Amino acid sequence: MKKIVLFASGSGSNVENIVQFFQGKSNVTIAAVLTNKRDAKVLDRCNNLKINCLYFNRTAFYETDCVLGILESLRPDLIVLAGFLWRIPLDMVQRYPDKIINIHPALLPDYGGKGMYGMRVHEAVKENGETETGITIHFVNENYDEGAIIYQAKTEVVSTDTAEDIAHKVHQLEYEHFPKIIEKLLSARAVH
Ligand code: GRF
Repeated sequence: MKKIVLFASGSGSNVENIVQFFQGKSNVTIAAVLTNKRDAKVLDRCNNLKINCLYFNRTAFYETDCVLGILESLRPDLIVLAGFLWRIPLDMVQRYPDKIINIHPALLPDYGGKGMYGMRVHEAVKENGETETGITIHFVNENYDEGAIIYQAKTEVVSTDTAEDIAHKVHQLEYEHFPKIIEKLLSARAVH
């Protein structure tokens, strides 16, 4: 049985999609969802999905071994950041080499880095008149959005698209591809 731990800071629609994808698959389980936002919608979603969701604050994350301790006890095969907005501390990156992945709602290296998240990304894509955008699934290192790219998928942007339209198109790509890439990584030898 392979175990996934998810990290999320917001709505958690990707979390819900991933949980539903793996429901009924006997070889993969979602061990827990960890969140840094006490009032995030992902908590309600986990409640409805009957998935354990644990909250931690900034001090616990950056100044204690609390979250590392939780991970040690859960023994995840893969740690998946699905809309998680804090930088992962170096000791966590080093403890889980090639086992932490993130999804970014644009085609990295464009539109990445600190402060580039959520609607800001889609607004920038719109402002720059891009004709395509997409998703990037990548390994996580100690810098925002800089780890090795695992997978990208593209979608067209037309001039009449609003930033909300772009966000919608990108979310559809995320729902389609993210669970499948997670499944592939779990079955590949790259994930020990
Ligand atoms: C997604 O667009 C993801 O790419 C980004 O944050 C967003 C999370 O959306 N990292 P949701 O919380 O899963 O709805």
